[in-house]
Amino acid sequence: MAQERLDKLLAATGRWSRSEVRRMVREGRVLADGRIVSAPETKYDADSVTLCVDGAPVDLQRFVYIMLHKPAGVVSATEDGREKTVLALLPEEYRRRGLFPVGRLDKDTEGLLLLTDDGALAHELLSPKKHVDKRYYARVDGALDESDRLAFAAGMTLGDGLVCQSAELEILSSGAQSEALVTLREGKYHQVKRMLAARGKPVRYLKRLTMGPLCLDPSLAGGAWRPLTAEELKKLKYTSCPTKKP
Ligand code: URA
Repeated sequence: MAQERLDKLLAATGRWSRSEVRRMVREGRVLADGRIVSAPETKYDADSVTLCVDGAPVDLQRFVYIMLHKPAGVVSATEDGREKTVLALLPEEYRRRGLFPVGRLDKDTEGLLLLTDDGALAHELLSPKKHVDKRYYARVDGALDESDRLAFAAGMTLGDGLVCQSAELEILSSGAQSEALVTLREGKYHQVKRMLAARGKPVRYLKRLTMGPLCLDPSLAGGAWRPLTAEELKKLKYTSCPTKKP
């Protein structure tokens, strides 16, 4: 990796601003490979240098990948003048890093949301050409039946002209209210709700369970988050670029 200035490397962790780094350097609190750093502009290779601040090693991971169990009532945006955003659920150090959600869930939709600052990976995962599957649990009004499943499988053109690719509808229960798993290979605006509404079955509850190889961790309560594991990240990178073996 190319050499980068120390203040840039440390500020990129989101834990300190550049001016804080400069102050820490002045105070002799930053060590690079065991030696006190004398100037914040000194360049180091992030892949090989060991940096310590106040005696504690600093993880210089280039990008951050967070799995969030999005609760209802927050918007999938980085900023919103009126509504609470998903970023407000993360600690300040992540907010400073410039994380953003990979794709959107509606304000009232719950479930798996990936946040990262890796723009290239996000772009690949959202590319319509990549066909990253997304699975949702949906509860709807009205009885779902085989004709709905077939309509989803055939690909639907909605009344407003939206053309939807073939999708999977697995009916879990059917009655006055029904439950189903919906798997989409694309992610158009309000797509699950619009497809089910077009079948006369308005969605009352929606939760995303998976995105490509990522499954919502059942131990995460609504609003909770954790970094992806190394294994999850490997699989995700393979999904975004299948020529790289996981
Ligand atoms: N489809 C929807 O209708 N809403 C979501 O939040 C996600 C997919």
